[in-house]
Amino acid sequence: ASLEMYVDLLPQMPKVLGYSLKYGRPAPTHLTIGMYQKKWKFHRDLPVTTVFAFGTSAESATFPGPTIEALQGVPLWVTWENHLPDRHILPWDPTVPVAIPRAGGVPTVVHLHGGVHPPQSDGHANAWFTAGFRERGPTWTTPTYAYPNAQSPGGVLWYHDHALGLTRANLLAGLLGAYVIRNPAAEAPLGLPCGDALDRVLVLADRSFYADGSLYMNCTGDNPGVHPQWQPEYFGDAVTVNGKAWPFLPVARRRYRFRIINASNARFFNLSLSNGLPFHVIGSDASYLPRPVAVTHLLVAVAEAFDVVVDFSESSEAELEVVNTAPYPYPDGDSPDHLTGKVMKFVVAPARLWDDHSRVPARLLDYVKVAEEEAAQRRYIVMYEYEDEATGNPTHLYINGKRPEDPATETPRAGTTEVWEVINLTADNHPLHLHLATFQAVRVRGLVELEEFKRCMERLNDAARCGVARHAVGEEVAVPEHERTWKNVVKLAPGFVTTVVVKFLMVDTGRAYPFDAAAEPGYVYHCHILDHEDNAMIRPLKLIR
Ligand code: C2O
Ligand code: CU
Repeated sequence: ASLEMYVDLLPQMPKVLGYSLKYGRPAPTHLTIGMYQKKWKFHRDLPVTTVFAFGTSAESATFPGPTIEALQGVPLWVTWENHLPDRHILPWDPTVPVAIPRAGGVPTVVHLHGGVHPPQSDGHANAWFTAGFRERGPTWTTPTYAYPNAQSPGGVLWYHDHALGLTRANLLAGLLGAYVIRNPAAEAPLGLPCGDALDRVLVLADRSFYADGSLYMNCTGDNPGVHPQWQPEYFGDAVTVNGKAWPFLPVARRRYRFRIINASNARFFNLSLSNGLPFHVIGSDASYLPRPVAVTHLLVAVAEAFDVVVDFSESSEAELEVVNTAPYPYPDGDSPDHLTGKVMKFVVAPARLWDDHSRVPARLLDYVKVAEEEAAQRRYIVMYEYEDEATGNPTHLYINGKRPEDPATETPRAGTTEVWEVINLTADNHPLHLHLATFQAVRVRGLVELEEFKRCMERLNDAARCGVARHAVGEEVAVPEHERTWKNVVKLAPGFVTTVVVKFLMVDTGRAYPFDAAAEPGYVYHCHILDHEDNAMIRPLKLIR
């Protein structure tokens, strides 16, 4: 029997301030946030579930973790502590590149997704550590990470585990949380809905459960002969929002702001409201849009974020479901069923309780335009999938045909702009994520005579020699208006070349954080389908001075 929908109230995750107030003025602060094994109730009728959760204490740890509230220009230090037990609660696979501590324990390391910070604070996959820092990975340097928060407000960031080969299991277990950067002086004039009740984070994640409440993750894999546990994509049959399966939220007849994060392992969401009410998109990933864009359907890739306003006063219905229509895998998989086709429900109060003085302004925060011509470099980045000859099942995925441990080939100069032509030779859409950098897709163009191009690429692994320019003359697809801002995740349509303008930001943090670009361990870029990232669609990104 499946769980009844809309019986649990949407939780508000605990809020942790990423600054202190000294004489009324914001000042830098230092937080200690731990990872704990906890019991979590995902649904009224489901027994409690053992999870891994972030919290400032074991008692307060939640799934997802507390929302960290930072201020633009006010640095924050976080000491991330691992209090996890010796054994993982989920199966994992020793045949993918994976952190294996000698003395047991669960390796973890925390990455602030969308953050602009020094490489030592980036949560490199090999900078993992076990409980009490008993064992540390080869690129571990410090227990305390520095987040300068020098970047713009808008959208939403999130922090999550990034341990080598364990990211899919550690996130599935619950090691993720939201992070908001605000600039009250710049944002107040926008007049958007604000305050904890009206400006809310929605963390979406699909999960499967055993009848006893425990998290289900496949433990045999699709290719047991090659990988005893790894499977190409994890899909759960329940949709959770802020740690509850299909919750509901009572709302007033007014505007609300929702910062939506897709924290699933592999599932895309194509969200719409059952009565056709629009989402007014005001930001994506960690930036505002220059102007709001109203859409009825919002396609949210894995790890992608959208910042939206919904005006419930426009609703004639008392109840609105959030519906999902994205096939899985995206775009050519199965359609969601009656379970994964539903996300949550809003229950609109019958009367207008107070005046709504918020608005969606015609102009939001402006951003610098991209100049493709000014790019210092043009690179080809190619997504490959490899299959088992006998079964035809995927065995692993690579970027540029290279292993994660192969020497860095992407070594941009700090502060420069580059053009990346990202070529997707697989059948799936891969959400590409770059650490540190921020980017905009400017063109999406189909590859013609794809099979011929693929065969050449399999032989030579060289886009220029295989005549990519001759092949990239197919159908041109417009980048949606509401994705035209500085992004940190970009969807890559299969069989297309996506042209992306990438800015490699300087970590401009004053003297407190000398920018040491040469310092180990550098950054990474990868597909954010966690099962792909772990095996092994991830490459180093090393900035040079
Ligand atoms: Cu959201 Cu490399 O991570
Ligand atoms: Cu992928």
